[in-house]
Amino acid sequence: MKILVVGKGGREHAIAWKLSQSSRVEKIYCAPGNGGISEIAECVPVDVMDTDGIIAAAREKAVDLVFVSPDDPLAAGMVDELERAGIRAFGPSRSAALIESSKAFAKDLMKHYGIPTARYEIFTDSRAALEYLKKCSFPVVVKADGLALGKGVIIASDFDEAERAVKDIMEDRVFGDAGKSVVIEEFLSGREATVLAFTDGKTVVPMVSSQDFKRALDNDRGLNTGGMGAVSPNCYYTPEIAERCMEEIFKPTIRALAQEGRKFKGVLYFGLMITAEGPKVIEYNARFGDPETQVVLPRLKTDLVDIIEAVIDERLDEIDLQWDDNAAACVILASGGYPGKYEKGFPIEGIPQALEAGALVFHSGTTRRNGTYYTDGGRVLGVTATGENLDIAINRAYEYAGMIKFDKMHYRKDIGRA
Ligand code: AMP
Ligand code: GLY
Repeated sequence: MKILVVGKGGREHAIAWKLSQSSRVEKIYCAPGNGGISEIAECVPVDVMDTDGIIAAAREKAVDLVFVSPDDPLAAGMVDELERAGIRAFGPSRSAALIESSKAFAKDLMKHYGIPTARYEIFTDSRAALEYLKKCSFPVVVKADGLALGKGVIIASDFDEAERAVKDIMEDRVFGDAGKSVVIEEFLSGREATVLAFTDGKTVVPMVSSQDFKRALDNDRGLNTGGMGAVSPNCYYTPEIAERCMEEIFKPTIRALAQEGRKFKGVLYFGLMITAEGPKVIEYNARFGDPETQVVLPRLKTDLVDIIEAVIDERLDEIDLQWDDNAAACVILASGGYPGKYEKGFPIEGIPQALEAGALVFHSGTTRRNGTYYTDGGRVLGVTATGENLDIAINRAYEYAGMIKFDKMHYRKDIGRA
């Protein structure tokens, strides 16, 4: 079969790579893709938000399936549009993707259905938000309601910081329309875990656990980024916690969405905080996470195409997911300055050596010209290694990362060790 993957990052490279291992896949297209993805897929120059362009490309290439990966096109309803055009598509509908695209919706859903999460209030008026802050104890977490590239969350340690966050988001609209309303919530302490799960709206099948390292600098300092590395499994996600998550969070969320008439089919991302009181939801995403996907998919033994089809056809209960026992670690090589301003266009050396040594190298932001890769984004490469345990996987990932060089390259030295 022929599959078109929508997206252009390391996550989509990992998805295309996993699809390329399926004996059922004859050709992969990626829109728009990137330098690394072009090695395993034919890249078509269509933007991820260009629904008409994606439909036209799917028809022209006669693909059997479109895999819509990023949050923005899912939130905009690309899967609904593809289905309306008679094209088979993987990913949640617009109405189900609201669980990511509106934090206020997600919080109200959790409150209504008794799913554990931080206590919160929602405001559409900045004066009311500021009044409320006067009564809060700190730290508090201030979140823009809508999609803000992972940057719309501010952990405010005192009133002044919280006040600035509310004014930035609601009055100055630094995240645009994502800031029409804000969620102000209780700060949770504990260990963070990511669990990605396949669901067809009835059955929910969690994947192996993972952990994302979001801050730009070692020891969790610096700005929040899209993710500077990941490991799988997450050692804090014990079988007991997994059992509680299944009963208290995963199944209730799927039931809640179905009951609201928003049946979710695709991958649901559970961002969890394991607190002293038990696991609580920090956030939902309506898609695979990046870089978590770069450590989770290398451990998947089951054919991804079989899972995708079972999700679409609502027979996920027939699938028994198989996982490799090996651990996996991913170190993101970023452009110096990211997530702020950075330069791009630098040649990248050492990828063949790292691959030769056994690395999986997923490209987040590269272009390829005359056989050479050049940096083309903030996050440039994800270097993944597997091993019998996390220590071995992490050491290998760093050994491989050390083989790769480009001007102003930056990476965290403490992924999996923080
Ligand atoms: P989000 O985009 O909602 O995942 O938030 C980004 C990051 O902010 C999370 O990965 C957490 O590290 C942190 N965070 C968000 N909400 C809370 C909370 N209520 N308590 C503590 N940390 C939080
Ligand atoms: N790694 C966080 C995310 O994909 O949203």
